[in-house]
Amino acid sequence: MKDELKRIGIEKDLQYECITTTVSKNGVKNAGAFAFVYLGENKVHCHIFEGSKTLKNILDTGEYVVNVTRDPLVFTYATLDCLGDEYYSNDSDIAVIKNTPAYIIVDVENVDVRTPENFPVKGNNNIYFITGKIREIIIKDNVMAFNRGMSGLIECLVNFSRYKIVDDDKRSEYMARVIENQRVIEKVSDEKTKRAMANLRAEYEKN
Ligand SMILES: Cc1cc2nc3c(=O)[nH]c(=O)nc-3n(C[C@H](O)[C@H](O)[C@H](O)COP(=O)(O)O)c2cc1C
Repeated sequence: MKDELKRIGIEKDLQYECITTTVSKNGVKNAGAFAFVYLGENKVHCHIFEGSKTLKNILDTGEYVVNVTRDPLVFTYATLDCLGDEYYSNDSDIAVIKNTPAYIIVDVENVDVRTPENFPVKGNNNIYFITGKIREIIIKDNVMAFNRGMSGLIECLVNFSRYKIVDDDKRSEYMARVIENQRVIEKVSDEKTKRAMANLRAEYEKN
């Protein structure tokens, strides 16, 4: 299992952004962008705020599918809640994105309801920590699961190359982005990316 996941760029304890597809009790398919974490062996984790259709479907059916894709339109339409039926495969019992290079079918094992204390998004909604067991991994094409730490790092590197030539307002804006991206990287990325970001932050602070 670990080797199969490695083939699609997934390592233990790191966070990847994927498209979670579910089916409602009435058979309606749904897709949303959600974080996915592999916990080792056949265990996985996701955390979902109260109020989403995905959460309701997962609680009702006890299963979900993690689509590993980098398709920008699938991410966008899933988030804007306008992913058309044509994006789904013809399977009737399960929701899968038709052209996804890989997907993971998960059976829910445990649901833990928490208040969102350590999350940047504060509000009255609880957050559900869901652990599951991988039932099957299907790899149809090459793909590397998307880890957003790298995008944050690259953006901060691009900004750094302009840091000395921009005005004070822009510099403050860039610094705020460094701080935010470092927070994200500490949460989702591997040690190498964390080290890169720490080095970059130190350089920002010198300049
Ligand atoms: C890249 C990305 C990752 C996201 N990860 C999560 C997450 O891990 N947990 C969560 O509750 N919401 C997450 N969201 C927000 C949900 O996708 C959003 O609430 C969505 O509208 C839920 O759709 P649904 O109601 O169809 O389930 C994420 C959004 C994006 C764009």
